[in-house]
Amino acid sequence: MHVMVVGARGQLGRDIVEAFGDCKVTPYDSEDMNIGDEAKVQQQIAFIGPDLVINCAAFTRVDECEREHLRAFQINALGPLHLALACKRWRIPLMHISTNYVFDGGKGAPYHEGDSARPINAYGVTKRAGEEYALYTLPNAAIVRVSGLFGLTPSRMKGTNFVEAMLRLGGKGSPLRIVCDEVISPTFTQDAAARIRQLADFNATGLIHLANQGACSWMDFARCIFDAAGMSVEIEPVTAEQYGAPARRPKDSSFECRRIAELGLPAMRPWREAVEDYLAQRARRESETS
Ligand SMILES: NC(=O)c1ccc[n+]([C@@H]2O[C@H](COP(=O)([O-])OP(=O)(O)OC[C@H]3O[C@@H](n4cnc5c(N)ncnc54)[C@H](OP(=O)(O)O)[C@@H]3O)[C@@H](O)[C@H]2O)c1
Repeated sequence: MHVMVVGARGQLGRDIVEAFGDCKVTPYDSEDMNIGDEAKVQQQIAFIGPDLVINCAAFTRVDECEREHLRAFQINALGPLHLALACKRWRIPLMHISTNYVFDGGKGAPYHEGDSARPINAYGVTKRAGEEYALYTLPNAAIVRVSGLFGLTPSRMKGTNFVEAMLRLGGKGSPLRIVCDEVISPTFTQDAAARIRQLADFNATGLIHLANQGACSWMDFARCIFDAAGMSVEIEPVTAEQYGAPARRPKDSSFECRRIAELGLPAMRPWREAVEDYLAQRARRESETS
């Protein structure tokens, strides 16, 4: 199988490239192809001729999406449309990565694939539009929604991830203000990538939620990171309103991964185990490079 991974230098993209290590993989990034440029996407997909396209590319800086509407729409909405149009033309399956931020967070329980999406920020609106464009163009596309990613390669767009940000800030010795009233399902990109590989092998289609088991607030996520790293850090719980980020976030956008169970795949491991594994791998990496 020849897989074209778009957004391959991002935190999830890197692990997807690894997960397809026994296949021919062509990694693509913004320098190779801007997914907002329809002609370029048509030309490059025709040129590469893959058996599967996986799109991890996105404008992932949630707060910036509130001001850069055009850029966010071009990458997050038109990007998947352009990829779907090219995949339709050459009859190539498409797997498009989306987000828990397509939900408004008001359900009061984890979201499954049958729940209605109703985004409350510009990032979520554009990501939802991308899902719709992909499915309208290619009804057999797979839309894989992930949540709260942390990967050993930090986010290309943010330059970090929540775990790395906590380790850095926690080491400074001052109390940290962390949001205590937003719930997510933290997910290790290696675990998500391994499931994405299985979904590709199953030729899975439609909406699929992928997350490590369980859910927590950003504050509990931080506590787990500090405990696992053996750091003593004072946390000052703040509400999202007090924290004052430019983009609103859903109160509880945690996932129930119903399709994974229906497909007969085991649930992913609990998120706390995944955090411990991340920190162990990170420590091994550091000792190898020092
Ligand atoms: N991070 C999270 O917590 C989270 C949560 C839920 C869902 N997701 C979704 O998961 C997916 C992967 O996220 P991530 O955190 O791994 O992203 P990331 O590390 O920020 O990487 C984004 C990638 O997109 C590429 N890209 C950006 N604009 C592009 C363009 N116009 N054309 C082509 N490529 C472009 C970047 O390429 P360059 O490196 O060349 O700029 C980069 O490789 C995204 O769909 C995101 O919406 C993420």
